[in-house]
Amino acid sequence: MNKVLSGKVAVVTGGANGIGLACVKGLAESGCQVAIADLDAEAAERMGDEISQQTGNRIVPFAIDVSDSKQCREMIQQVQDQLDGLDILINCAGGSLDKKPILELAESTWHRTLDINLHGTYYCSRAFARAVIEQQGEGAIVNISSIFATRNAPGLAAYCVSKAAVSQLTRAMALEMAQHGIRVNAVGPSHVETGRMTKKIEEGIVDVETVVGHVPMNRMARSEEVADLVLFLCSDRASFITGQTVVIDGGYTIE
Ligand SMILES: NC(=O)c1ccc[n+]([C@@H]2O[C@H](COP(=O)([O-])OP(=O)(O)OC[C@H]3O[C@@H](n4cnc5c(N)ncnc54)[C@H](O)[C@@H]3O)[C@@H](O)[C@H]2O)c1
Repeated sequence: MNKVLSGKVAVVTGGANGIGLACVKGLAESGCQVAIADLDAEAAERMGDEISQQTGNRIVPFAIDVSDSKQCREMIQQVQDQLDGLDILINCAGGSLDKKPILELAESTWHRTLDINLHGTYYCSRAFARAVIEQQGEGAIVNISSIFATRNAPGLAAYCVSKAAVSQLTRAMALEMAQHGIRVNAVGPSHVETGRMTKKIEEGIVDVETVVGHVPMNRMARSEEVADLVLFLCSDRASFITGQTVVIDGGYTIE
């Protein structure tokens, strides 16, 4: 992916950990300048410094909460001011907040899940698209959806609804942005090995045997495998692909 992405400027929300961090590493290794926009300011700064030293590319941390529209707008503006343009947005910030049945789930958790996963993706995508159109360039957005955009699991209603909406937002934005030279796609991973996933396994929230039992390839995805797909979709090699949610699940959803 080195040559096709070299020289581009990318923003990765949720880029301080997990899948987002693997995307930041992949982009930097491909010669991109990267903004890490994350709630975890300390990790964003630490990982930014580390990857910058390893790759020689500029990695700039931004402390933001993507559920705040103003913060998303200001972050995109600052990226444009501080880096050399704006080409790629990867909306990765998010996750599931509490595993509880609908009858017991706090309303605040329902709202917060949608505020981060869906509204954060909308705020950042809209700010990014406006900026790209203004600079008269082309752009690519990749949203991190999930296999749970089309499936359900007990206790994960808010998460599943938010990811279904992210996939629909992906199609809606792709439709309206095509005329502006901005492609919008999503990836839909099954369970991915991340620090957060390890914690959930340790806490008994996720049972590895059950999860892996659904996967013909008999394992979870690695963050780097998801990042490889994300990098392909935001590169010119995917120049005629837009509005898609590409599933990466070792066969989970075949059955
Ligand atoms: N890990 C999985 O199994 C899996 C599977 C499918 C989809 N996903 C999706 O991939 C994305 C990343 O998941 P992960 O497992 O790498 O999670 P993670 O917890 O390892 O990383 C998420 C990052 O997002 C940041 N973040 C959280 N809320 C934020 C907010 N309001 N504003 C800005 N940053 C915020 C966190 O600080 C963290 O750095 C999520 O959207 C998740 O739903 C994960």
